[in-house]
Amino acid sequence: MSFYIGIDVGTSSVKAMLTDETEIINTVSRDYPLSMPEAGWSEQDPDDWYRESVAAVKELISGVDKSKVRAISFSGQMHGLVMLDKDDRVIRPAILWNDGRSIKETEYLNEEVGRDFLLENTGNIAFAGFTAPKLLWVYNNERDNFDRAEKICLPKDYVAFRMSGVFATDTSDAAGTLYFDTQNRCWSQKMLSLLHIEERKLPKVYESSECIGDLKGELADELGISRDVKIIIGAGDNAASAIGTGTVNDGDCNISLGTSGTVFVCSDKFNCDKKNAIHSFCSANGKYHYLACTLTAASSQKWWVEDILKSGYDLDVSKYAGRSDVLFLPYLMGERSPVNDTLVRGVFAALSMNTAREEMALAVLEGVAFSLKENIEIIKNLGVDITKSKICGGGTKNRFWVELCASILGIDIELPEFEHGGVLGACILAAAGCGEDISPSFCNVKEIIHPDKDLADFYEKKYRKYLKLYPLASELYG
Ligand code: XUL
Repeated sequence: MSFYIGIDVGTSSVKAMLTDETEIINTVSRDYPLSMPEAGWSEQDPDDWYRESVAAVKELISGVDKSKVRAISFSGQMHGLVMLDKDDRVIRPAILWNDGRSIKETEYLNEEVGRDFLLENTGNIAFAGFTAPKLLWVYNNERDNFDRAEKICLPKDYVAFRMSGVFATDTSDAAGTLYFDTQNRCWSQKMLSLLHIEERKLPKVYESSECIGDLKGELADELGISRDVKIIIGAGDNAASAIGTGTVNDGDCNISLGTSGTVFVCSDKFNCDKKNAIHSFCSANGKYHYLACTLTAASSQKWWVEDILKSGYDLDVSKYAGRSDVLFLPYLMGERSPVNDTLVRGVFAALSMNTAREEMALAVLEGVAFSLKENIEIIKNLGVDITKSKICGGGTKNRFWVELCASILGIDIELPEFEHGGVLGACILAAAGCGEDISPSFCNVKEIIHPDKDLADFYEKKYRKYLKLYPLASELYG
């Protein structure tokens, strides 16, 4: 028997998981701060990720036979810009996937460099959350920092680097930079020269289940595990979640209801959405996928329940299901898919004197589900038949929300036996890197949730109204 460790470098916390070949042995989660120093900015300290990852692993393996640990792998929040100096010290806080500061740079890339050029060289257009516009922002606004950077990488790659001493990334995460040639799975030379990046400053690219080296000796000693523990590079969190839910075959769909809400659709062949609403990235199993990202999913709910209502999550919202007119557009930090609009903001509509706070809480859950629906409809229009989807992420703890998603999306939702997503995917990748396929023990469907016919009819009509909100909101905030 061997033990495998997964580390998910998330936005609100790091999650660590320990499995053997057939069972989850332990999970640990440790929070770290997120800083929003200016409106629309979102930053974290990469040293927090590393420190809390090490602390999480220590706690994770405290009661087990440590000699059995064979490999560690990663899942990570995507797109974050991490810059290191010549001594491998962090130059500035990481600029995260949900940071909207690079509006001008995104516009420059899409309008002046041109969407066609970007699509041809990367498979994607620019979104403010992607790494390239943020790197250009640093170039334009903090030239000193830009010039001092000797290494440029993504969040999980920083933690993997600190743990192994090897500077590496994987194709699924690299695809989210916009300086990666997704179809050919290598850095795009044309994009590197456009962005003033020397390739020597970038990590070497691996596939997600490849071993990049061993755990650093001193860290192995500190953790009390073997110096031979392998470091497997892992994947961006959405690609890792797909592995964790068994979303691995052409046309398979997985929804992640986390801080962000994503729709992931696996594809054997590379393809891209010429209308630019949906991303085309590499998968963690050598294939490709479409990805659509709703920037504020569970975080919209957190904002409404914790910051505004200052209540608990036990509000009884279900009594309003299928009968409330209140609408919510979940664009609290602008939106990625499908509108690519960093300036737009969220909207509540159709409020009246007798609107209850529970009704508004329900509207938040519905609004996120409508946003996922809009993205699914776009992917369907690309010729993919989506009749069912797996689901994972923190939002799935709310059973009512998952049922609501089935009715709003009009598809069957398959609840995996384990809904951990990325961190479980990282354990599966750690094992894969040692030549073991442990996925059959972890990727089974526990239950299928079907849409409720009456609710589905109601929400189909309400969705048409929801679609009218964005054009209005974009006039207000454009
Ligand atoms: C995907 C994206 C988010 C982050 C969240 O493109 O930006 O899902 O990966 O961690």
